[in-house]
Amino acid sequence: MDDHNSLIEAFTEMAPRYEKVVDSELRLFWGWSYDQFVTQILSQTPLKENDRILDIATGTGVIPMRILKTGDHNHSIHGLDITYAMLKHAKLRFSRAGFEQTPKFTCASAMEMPYRSQVYDTVLCGLATHHMDVPSLLSESYRVLKPGGQLSITDVGGSPLWRIPVIRFFVSTIAFVYFLFKENLDRAWAEATAVPNLRTSERWASALKGQGFEEITIKVLTSRFSWIPEPLAIRANKPWRDNK
Ligand SMILES: C[S@@+](CC[C@H](N)C(=O)[O-])C[C@H]1O[C@@H](n2cnc3c(N)ncnc32)[C@H](O)[C@@H]1O
Repeated sequence: MDDHNSLIEAFTEMAPRYEKVVDSELRLFWGWSYDQFVTQILSQTPLKENDRILDIATGTGVIPMRILKTGDHNHSIHGLDITYAMLKHAKLRFSRAGFEQTPKFTCASAMEMPYRSQVYDTVLCGLATHHMDVPSLLSESYRVLKPGGQLSITDVGGSPLWRIPVIRFFVSTIAFVYFLFKENLDRAWAEATAVPNLRTSERWASALKGQGFEEITIKVLTSRFSWIPEPLAIRANKPWRDNK
């Protein structure tokens, strides 16, 4: 199976019911509602007036919608996602809400962002890094951030044990079987192939440092079961003076 196509197929199929699915999965795995997740990522991300914001893997646009609904600030927001169907629902959400100011949505991969360098004050990414090659994501995020800009991520972490091939294979198999029965073959493949991308706080810190980020903070957030990987709240800044 092609990992890339399976991921797009999985999210295309899920797009019309995305918020419901993610809400029930977050409640089951972490004991969080989807609303709490959105509150979490935004509470760890201080925004300033007129910030230019990029929401990577924006999905159905829930994070940009919350920023524009609750913020007293005048932000310009761009949303990027690889799945066109998710963006279609994001656009629908904004047109239904009758917002004057709507984000600009772009269908592209976060591994190769179609943006100029040094344009964003804030880059966000929620619940999606596990589907990506993290070094490419961080290198692209660093490139598009202005000096002094912030990167803010909330996603599932990983266990050091999962670096052992036999254990990683076992965990991937459990993920595959669970999502095959609960969802479908594409989703099962997308989640099983995401397991090697899950990182511990230490590996996140070293990847961020390696890309040149500074002021790195990684918090392990509470989760319902000790045996399910915990959510991580990750923040880092691009230095004012580029060290690269
Ligand atoms: C679980 S959803 C998260 C959506 C949204 N951030 C949220 O918090 O609700 C994961 C999203 O990541 C997107 N995605 C996965 N790989 C991507 C990539 N390489 N580039 C851009 N988007 C990607 C998927 O299309 C999907 O919309």
